[in-house]
Amino acid sequence: MKAIQHQELVTPALLIRAEAMARNRQRMTQAMSKFPSVSLRPHMKAHKCGPLALLQVADGALGVCAATVDEVYVAASAGVKDILLSNELATLAAVKRFVKIAAEFSQAKLRICVDSVGLIRLLKEAGAAAVNVGVLIEVDVGHHRCGCHPDQVVALAQAISEAGLSFDGIQCYQGKLQHIRDRDARRDAVMASAVAVAKLSKQKLLDAGIECNIVTGGGTGTFTVEAGSGVFTEVQPGSYLFMDVDYGKNPDTPFESSLFVLATIISIDSTRSWAVIDAGHKAVTMDSGPPAVVGHAETVQYTSGGDEHGILSTGNVGDLPVEFEVGKQLWLVPGHCDPTVNLYSTVHVMTEDGKSE
Ligand SMILES: Cc1ncc(COP(=O)(O)O)c(C=O)c1O
Repeated sequence: MKAIQHQELVTPALLIRAEAMARNRQRMTQAMSKFPSVSLRPHMKAHKCGPLALLQVADGALGVCAATVDEVYVAASAGVKDILLSNELATLAAVKRFVKIAAEFSQAKLRICVDSVGLIRLLKEAGAAAVNVGVLIEVDVGHHRCGCHPDQVVALAQAISEAGLSFDGIQCYQGKLQHIRDRDARRDAVMASAVAVAKLSKQKLLDAGIECNIVTGGGTGTFTVEAGSGVFTEVQPGSYLFMDVDYGKNPDTPFESSLFVLATIISIDSTRSWAVIDAGHKAVTMDSGPPAVVGHAETVQYTSGGDEHGILSTGNVGDLPVEFEVGKQLWLVPGHCDPTVNLYSTVHVMTEDGKSE
């Protein structure tokens, strides 16, 4: 690949700092080394990128999670051998596509989450029993998104087996807890929800004589709690690779920002009260708060200027940093990495010597 300097990039552009990402990978390996009986299954919804999924497998991950059928395809075609679609599908067309991927990449083990008999029927109808597919039951552990009640797991596991499918375990993910800022409060909340409900659900299965080999869940903010619980067999952090402004507010996080949006100042108002950059909603998402400007995170605020524009100001007339000039490039830390990555078809990997590929 051709090495270029970031100054040559047309902005807005998505960049990864290679060394920072490598440090995050090492920190994850180190964190997981404390839980030798628990596997890492990173969530690729953060990067949606086959080569990065392979790097994570090279780091020791047993496979990846995917959030969509498209992500399953990206991982399978990159050569990942163990992929969990950590989500439900609801139409025969979507289930058929999932089964087709399993048939095409038969050396890969694909798994999918279900929380109703409807999806079990669709899997049967699409021929999932004839391919290398396993089924997990998603349990609602307090996120109140997808997932069944713990009282339903036995009946669902029986329905999976009766459909000729392989019941492999349960998913117990609680996303809302990831960003509780206080570490002890976060740990207590995970123990009271994800861990307690996972234990209860597994026990119900065991009492009914049904094996539950996989218990999976956890994210960047909580994975050490699930991993140390004695019930989870694998954890699913995704954002640890990149981080973002929101996760950076968890004071105990060992991870650092490695993902940036490169933007350029395209206009400055005559009183130097605000600068306009070429990064609006189409370049950074605002769902978890605004991006931060590297080097000015404490003083300069980003507000939306619409689809293509971002407005930077300190809130004081004439108070823009002196180095802010039209044409100057700025590095932004995204407020939320996953949906920001989703806006780009290309990511540039930048090394500390300034080269990008
Ligand atoms: C089911 C599931 N598992 C794991 C994750 C990874 O979480 P994080 O990116 O916070 O590490 C997510 C993120 O939304 C998720 O939906």
